[in-house]
Amino acid sequence: MAKDILSQEKVSQESISEATTTEKRVSQKKEYIVAPASDIPPGTHCVVKVGRREIGIFNIDGTLYALPNLCTHQLGPLCRGKVSGTIICTRETNWKLQWGYEGEIVTCPWHGMEYHIPTGTCLAFPEIRLRSYEVWVEDEQVKVRL
Ligand code: FES
Repeated sequence: MAKDILSQEKVSQESISEATTTEKRVSQKKEYIVAPASDIPPGTHCVVKVGRREIGIFNIDGTLYALPNLCTHQLGPLCRGKVSGTIICTRETNWKLQWGYEGEIVTCPWHGMEYHIPTGTCLAFPEIRLRSYEVWVEDEQVKVRL
C-alpha cells in the first residue's frame, strides 16, 4: 500500500514537471509579422523567412495554414511547389479514380511528393505529418507563432 502512495507521489511530481516544461515551451514561442494579409489572398501561397526558418503560408478559401518549407523526403523546398488537387482512389470513390482535394495539395518541386496542406499529411506515407505553425491575421498583417 505504501508503495502505491509513493508511486502516486512520483507521478504527481512528474506531471508538475511536464506542465512546467510545456508552459515554458509555450512562453518561449514568439509572434512574427510575416506579410500584409493582402499579399496572400485566397487561392495563393508564399514562402516567408523567419530568422533562419522558411515557412510556407497558404490561403485556402480564406483559411491560413503555415507549414515548414522542408520536404520530409530529402529536405526539398516543399512550399515552393504547385498547389492543386490529387487523384483519389479509395473505398469512398468505389475504387474509381477521382479528382479531389482541389487547392489543398502541395507537390514538392524536387520529386513530386504530395502533402495535404490543412493536415500536413504526406499522401504517399500518411504516417508522416508535417508540423504546422499557428497563423492568423491581425491588423491586416499575417502573423505566425514559432
Ligand atoms: S525532396 Fe521532396 S519529394 Fe524529394
